[in-house]
Amino acid sequence: MAVVLAAGQGTRLRSERPKVLHEVAGRPMLARVLSTARAAGCSRLLVVVGHGAAAVREAFADQEVTWVEQPEQLGTGHALAQVERQLDGAARLLVLSGDVPLIRPATLERVTAAATGSWGALAVARLERPGSLGRIVMAEGRLRRIVEAANASQAELASQQINVGLYLLPAPQIFTYLAALEPDPVKGELYLTDALNAAASEHAIAACELADPDEALGINSQADLARAHRALVDRRGAELQQAGVTLLEPTRVTIEPEVEVGADTVLDADVWLGGLTTVGSRCRLHQGAWIRDSRLGDDVEVAPYSVLDGADVGDGCRVGPYARLRPGARLEAGARVGNFVEVKNARLGPGAKAGHLAYLGDAEIGAGANIGAGVVTCNYDGRAKHRTVIGEGAFIGSDTMLVAPVEVGDEAVTGAGSVINNDVPPGALAVERSRQRTVPDWSRRRGRKKSS
Ligand code: UD1
Ligand code: CA
Repeated sequence: MAVVLAAGQGTRLRSERPKVLHEVAGRPMLARVLSTARAAGCSRLLVVVGHGAAAVREAFADQEVTWVEQPEQLGTGHALAQVERQLDGAARLLVLSGDVPLIRPATLERVTAAATGSWGALAVARLERPGSLGRIVMAEGRLRRIVEAANASQAELASQQINVGLYLLPAPQIFTYLAALEPDPVKGELYLTDALNAAASEHAIAACELADPDEALGINSQADLARAHRALVDRRGAELQQAGVTLLEPTRVTIEPEVEVGADTVLDADVWLGGLTTVGSRCRLHQGAWIRDSRLGDDVEVAPYSVLDGADVGDGCRVGPYARLRPGARLEAGARVGNFVEVKNARLGPGAKAGHLAYLGDAEIGAGANIGAGVVTCNYDGRAKHRTVIGEGAFIGSDTMLVAPVEVGDEAVTGAGSVINNDVPPGALAVERSRQRTVPDWSRRRGRKKSS
């Protein structure tokens, strides 16, 4: 069972938002902590909330979580004491901080294993610059004392071993120590660390050292938030490199942790991949590709400065430069979308092409159709959206306005500059424009100079 202490304020981030709702690599830091606990096999999650509790609960309304209110934030010890009323009987509590988002599931498993044969366990890390974190004093392989930085002597401050804020503690025993807490003389808070110190004088508490001290990073400032973001993004980049993805400029790409990329795909500088994006193998994503919640098949090329959001792009497609695929855009194998083309809620069949300057919304475009420059599906009549259907192999001339609902049949053609508001049967040509009038010698008769 996991308990997450998440009642802190955002004040040290100079923010009105509850601290745990600030995002790290695209997700609120509390979401990251909760999914780590789940991945480590924690079946029941209790989350202590206080400041901004309503906003926090709302952000996680779809998750199975027991919310525990801590009406006043009187310290980490007071926060954990709040969960006593939710529990009956004995339990092993894995206690995490909502503001330490880089912990890996394997680390939770290690701390849990370290507690076997001891009363409890805590995670410790060695940091070059331990800053304001609690310092660990050990004796014979067991915890002797945790000293908060504000209370530490010079000698204790020099210690580089710090308290991560991750513990495995037995209930109900821990509540006896929490009930006896006195406010800290410096900050006036009830410290969970003081309860551990009292327990450590009577029982063995094992220390489990993190293999990767970066996991200990707690978020107490905007600079920490940026560091945590970069750490998670770099972690994902390194994993993908291991899996055969080429990052030409690893420090200049952003890949959120949930993104999947196939082998032999090459990412240029300034590529951003976020949300639940999957990219296939042998793709090439050029400078400035911004891709969120999208699926790209294999052998896809995304040319520079293209935006893909909620798009589904089939094998061998080519997108951009400067293309925009919005939610519901679906490109089937080998389709092409070129510069300044916007696609929303529309399917382009295999090999269909829209090379330049078009808006394709709420449309169905058949295989091999060619959409000329400047074509617009006029999908909105001011009240409702309507569909445009374009058949296989159709040729939509440049600057055609397709006033939906409208259907152009297979192999049909529309003349450039036409406003099409009646269906065009398969194989037909539809032209809607006035005939050109040509007036000879117009310039001379108007007394204009002949240009040389
Ligand atoms: C705490 C530890 C410190 C450790 C550090 C690791 C204590 C006293 N100190 O310090 O030894 O090195 O974490 O990051 O525990 N919270 C509540 N209710 C409260 C107060 C805090 O829910 O009344 C939550 C916060 O939202 C946060 C977590 O508990 O998620 C830790 O609290 P914080 O005030 O950030 O503790 P630190 O000063 O970082
Ligand atoms: Ca903290």
